[in-house]
Amino acid sequence: MWHEIFNFFIPADFNWKWDNAGNPYRKKVNLNDISFPQDFLWGVSTAAHQIEGNCTNNNWFRWEHSVDPSSGKSRIFNGHKSGKACDHWNRYKEDTMLIKDLGCNAYRFSVEWSKIEPKQGLYDSNVIKHYHDEIDLLLKNGIVPMITLHHFTHPLWFEDLGNWEKEENIKYFIAFAERVYEEFSGKVKFWCTINEPTVFAMVGWLQGTFPPGKTEGDMIWNSMDKAVNVVQNLMIAHVQVYKHLKAIDPQPQIGIVHNIFHMRPCRRWNPFDYVVGMVADYLQNDMVIQFFRTGNFKWHIPLIGKKFHIRIPEAPKCFDFFGLNFYSHIHMKVVLDPKDPVQSQASPVEEKLSVMTDMEYPIYAEGIYIALKRLSSAFPGVPIYVTENGVADKDDSMRKLFTKRYFYAISRAISEGVNLKGYFYWTLMDNFEWAFGFDMRFGLYYVDYGKNGDGRNGATLERTLNPGAKYYVDLIKRFKKK
Ligand code: FCB
Repeated sequence: MWHEIFNFFIPADFNWKWDNAGNPYRKKVNLNDISFPQDFLWGVSTAAHQIEGNCTNNNWFRWEHSVDPSSGKSRIFNGHKSGKACDHWNRYKEDTMLIKDLGCNAYRFSVEWSKIEPKQGLYDSNVIKHYHDEIDLLLKNGIVPMITLHHFTHPLWFEDLGNWEKEENIKYFIAFAERVYEEFSGKVKFWCTINEPTVFAMVGWLQGTFPPGKTEGDMIWNSMDKAVNVVQNLMIAHVQVYKHLKAIDPQPQIGIVHNIFHMRPCRRWNPFDYVVGMVADYLQNDMVIQFFRTGNFKWHIPLIGKKFHIRIPEAPKCFDFFGLNFYSHIHMKVVLDPKDPVQSQASPVEEKLSVMTDMEYPIYAEGIYIALKRLSSAFPGVPIYVTENGVADKDDSMRKLFTKRYFYAISRAISEGVNLKGYFYWTLMDNFEWAFGFDMRFGLYYVDYGKNGDGRNGATLERTLNPGAKYYVDLIKRFKKK
């Protein structure tokens, strides 16, 4: 009740009138008013650990096979393990045909560092050959490959050396990146260095639901400092990798992939929520944008936290495109719990107005429009790619609505001058969704994970196109260059 009253006076998050809610005076958005450039890339996106199977030598394998010491339980939904995942390693030929059947002309995927370099300095030529075969097949079928070098996973030896917490470990990532680039730069035009630096760091070190997990008993600002330290190292790593790779071959386009997840106050009338919303938005979104815009990486909570400030003046020149992963917005709330004083949730008002996905956030297509405009004004003229965007939708009841709204928002941003060059739907097929195991289904193709949905009992891993994917397929048909 109070929320409604306050929201009457203080406007809610930026919202479009998707329907006129029975009010003939509200101007409705015209979802069919869309157009896309001729040379647009139409793609799907995946990550090695989530689809390949048999990733037994990385940080996530260890995480899936350990328990939370405080509860004695698995950290993954229902104790799921990635195991064979989608068995993409063995079925990549079939999967390439699935991408082709969608009509896509681009595919973003990651190469698994722990398979390529299972021991430090030791490269597996069979694994490299495997990726050559996969890339060749994509190219043969008119599908432009985009490689991600680090998508949340790295080898155990790197983890045990202290992973991204230590700046001196960046050299190992550079060596790996150089080796991979030397192999494939002649064939692969698009390269993403690191996937979602802030998500990786915040979920791993602050929230603790990704490896290495939060240290028991750490106060929130200590965890935050650890997470920011990791983001800082990832920023340094990106710049260095960019320079090293460009020195080997200047032709390919190299970019960063950043997740913009709008953070807003939950109760707009509450000053604590307001401040926490702003701080969280900086931490998740703006810290990285400002680094690439100005070369300054800055973080400091006066009195309680550590002061971070590094300056890399050439950073604004060290990316050829900006990759945007976009999913939704979330609302921050301060509560009287000294252990967990800050919580995030869908705001109660938002929840009523919006369509909630299977994740804890709603479909919020306006958000991608805002994010694209934000990037476009921070980096005028720089090509942008939507490197991920999709919906967790178990019963395929929202996928069509989701895609319709998002493509309206994207097209509107393009028509207003945003230099968007392509879009990669997350994701090709249902897969191992990190801490959610196989429970979240983001796939355009449905995957049979057996009767318990855990990839074991009777799982055939058969892929079937979801009816809700048709809108995307039709869009590609309509707008892709013939
Ligand atoms: C992104 C990740 C991707 C997938 C989607 C749903 O944050 O990059 O691997 O988990 O979320």
